[in-house]
Amino acid sequence: MAKLELKNLNKTYSPKVIPVKDVSLTVDNHEFLTLLGPSGCGKSTVLRMIAGLEEPTQGQIKIGDVDVTYKRPSDRNIAMVFQSYALYPHMTVYENLASGLKLKKVPSADIKRRVAEVSEVLGLGELMNRKPGQMSGGQRQRVAVGRALVRNADVYLLDEPLSNLDALLRERVRADLKQIFAAQKVPVVYVTHDQTEAMTLSTKVALLNDGYVQQLDPPERIYNHPANLFVAGFVGSPQMNLLTLPCQGKSALLGNFQVRLPDIPTVPPQIVLGIRPEDVRIAQPEDTQTIRGRVFLVENLGMHNLVSVRVEGSQTGGITLRALLATDQNWNGEDITLALPPEDIHWFDVQSGHAVAKRQMVGKV
Ligand SMILES: Nc1ncnc2c1ncn2[C@@H]1O[C@H](COP(=O)(O)OP(=O)(O)O)[C@@H](O)[C@H]1O
Ligand SMILES: [Mg+2]
Repeated sequence: MAKLELKNLNKTYSPKVIPVKDVSLTVDNHEFLTLLGPSGCGKSTVLRMIAGLEEPTQGQIKIGDVDVTYKRPSDRNIAMVFQSYALYPHMTVYENLASGLKLKKVPSADIKRRVAEVSEVLGLGELMNRKPGQMSGGQRQRVAVGRALVRNADVYLLDEPLSNLDALLRERVRADLKQIFAAQKVPVVYVTHDQTEAMTLSTKVALLNDGYVQQLDPPERIYNHPANLFVAGFVGSPQMNLLTLPCQGKSALLGNFQVRLPDIPTVPPQIVLGIRPEDVRIAQPEDTQTIRGRVFLVENLGMHNLVSVRVEGSQTGGITLRALLATDQNWNGEDITLALPPEDIHWFDVQSGHAVAKRQMVGKV
C-alpha cells in the first residue's frame, strides 16, 4: 500500500474565506494521522480535498507515486466515513456491506469472502440479517466503518465518525477503531475536534488552527513539547496554566516568588510560563522552586481535585494557579505551598507565542 502526501495545499473560497493554508504532511501506510482543531479550522476541507470532493486552489496530493490532485473521487480508491453515516435503511447489514462491491461488479464469491472478513474484524457476525433500524448507534457506526473497509482502499478518511455517539459508546467504538486500523496497514486520516480521540488513536497529530498546521508530531510530543501557545492551550484537560509574567534578572516573577528562567540569549521584559495542573505538586522539603497561596476553589473530578490557588503577592485580581491534587484532603480556604518542578515548565514568547528553549514550531501561529 502507498503513502499519502500533501504538498503546500491551499483552499480559497473567497479573499476572506481561506480555510486551508499551506498544509504539507505525509501519512505512511502504517500511520494513523489525526487532523485535530477547533470547529471551522479547515479539517473537513483538507479531508474533502484528499477525497476529491473539493479541488485545491494550490498544492498537490499524491498517493504513492501518483499525483491525484485533479483526479475524480472514483479514480482515487479512497474510502471515507462521515459523521452522519449513511446506511441504506431497507437493506440488511450484509447488503449494506456488499452494495458498494456489487456496484463495482466484483464477482459474488469475492464479495462474500470480503464481507465475511470485514464482519469478522468488526464483530458484526450475528447482526448480518438485521436492518439499520434494529441496531444501536454503535452497531450502525461499525457497519458504516465496515462499508469503508470492504473496499480495500489505498487510503481511509474518517470525518468525526464518533460525534453522534454517547460518551460511553464513543469510548468503546474508539477502542475498536484503534484495533481495526492498526491491523490494516494503510494510511488513515481521521478528523476530530476531540483531543482525547486524537491522543488515543493517532500515531501522528496535525493540530490545525485557522487553516494552518500549528504542530505535526506524535501525540506524546504534542503533549510534552507544545510548539506554541495555541497548542499548549488546546491540548490537555484541565487546561495548562498559562501565565504572563514580568522578568527580573534571570527569573520570572510569579507574585512574591521567583521562577528561574531557561537559558535564553536575551531576557525579555515579559514571558509566558506554562505548567499543567497535573505537574503542580504539594511542595516537599527538597523542592527548590515553590509558591504559596490561598485555595479559593476545589472542584472534584472524581480521580482528583482540581484546586484553584490565588498566588501570594500577586496584584489585585491576582494570579490563579490550578493544581490537580489527591482527593484525600480538601484544601478549600487554606494556605498551600506548591512545587513547580523546573523540568515541567514550558516557556513561551509573549509576542510570537512560540515555545522558548524547547523546540522550533512547525507552521505558523
Ligand atoms: N463551500 C464553502 N464555501 C465557503 N466557505 C466554506 C465552504 N466550506 C467550508 N467553508 C468555510 O471554511 C472554513 C473551514 O471549514 P471546515 O473545513 O468545514 O472546518 P472544520 O471541519 O475544521 O470544522 C469554515 O469557516 C467554513 O465556513
Ligand atoms: Mg468538519
